[in-house]
Amino acid sequence: MNRRQIVAGNWKMNTTIAEGFTLAGQITDAHRSKEVLTILAVPFTHIFALQKKISARSKVLLAAQTCHHKNSGAYTGEISPSMLASMKVPYVVLGHSERREYNHENNNLLALKLRAALDAGLKVIFCCGEGLDIRKAGTHVHHVKVQLVESLFQLEAREMKNIVIAYEPIWAIGTGESASPAQAQEMHAAIRLMLQKKYGKRVAEATSILYGGSVKGNNAKELFNQPDVDGGLVGGASLNGEEFVQIINSF
Ligand code: 13P
Repeated sequence: MNRRQIVAGNWKMNTTIAEGFTLAGQITDAHRSKEVLTILAVPFTHIFALQKKISARSKVLLAAQTCHHKNSGAYTGEISPSMLASMKVPYVVLGHSERREYNHENNNLLALKLRAALDAGLKVIFCCGEGLDIRKAGTHVHHVKVQLVESLFQLEAREMKNIVIAYEPIWAIGTGESASPAQAQEMHAAIRLMLQKKYGKRVAEATSILYGGSVKGNNAKELFNQPDVDGGLVGGASLNGEEFVQIINSF
């Protein structure tokens, strides 16, 4: 398997600059794994300071948590892909369920954001996942397929090397109740099959698919042991330096 193992922390709207500086320091100081790519998705306000803190550590990279679908214009308060690229931020998270819910980001808008982000030279962690009602109805695989078809699958096969997929079931986010390893594996295998049908086996085998939703120090190993789980996108537990490093070291 030539897929990249990745552990990404999504800090969401947490930490002051000082707290973020301390947290990033704890992570970079304790980070020993040469194989695992570690990504910190931090608030926009922290990027500049944290770049200085971690620049020497090539295995710890920064991500923005979203970006606009245009590169400039009268969009007060927004941050564009080219602004991030000009700061040499390598990754941006797109399609997080909280953005979908609170900022009404739908699949069509996310297709535009993906296009703009890749055109600016960013790599994308693209999130998908179903809510509890959909999981209960048993249509979760179909739901995720629609999310991918209407946004991610607008890209060309050659662009997929710049994409990491994160499967985040909404019912597991911030609830303390992770998907079981079997539930994660089922969806990850289904996503990989979708990738194979759309882009062929080579792309499907090379694309890292992360699991997100209550990943903790005590369940990461079992989740990461699944054959199609290539790492995690971690919310709450990424705010605790010690626990986040434990998760990184779970591979
Ligand atoms: P938690 O790890 O807090 O459940 O959050 C997951 C998440 O939303 C990461 O993007």
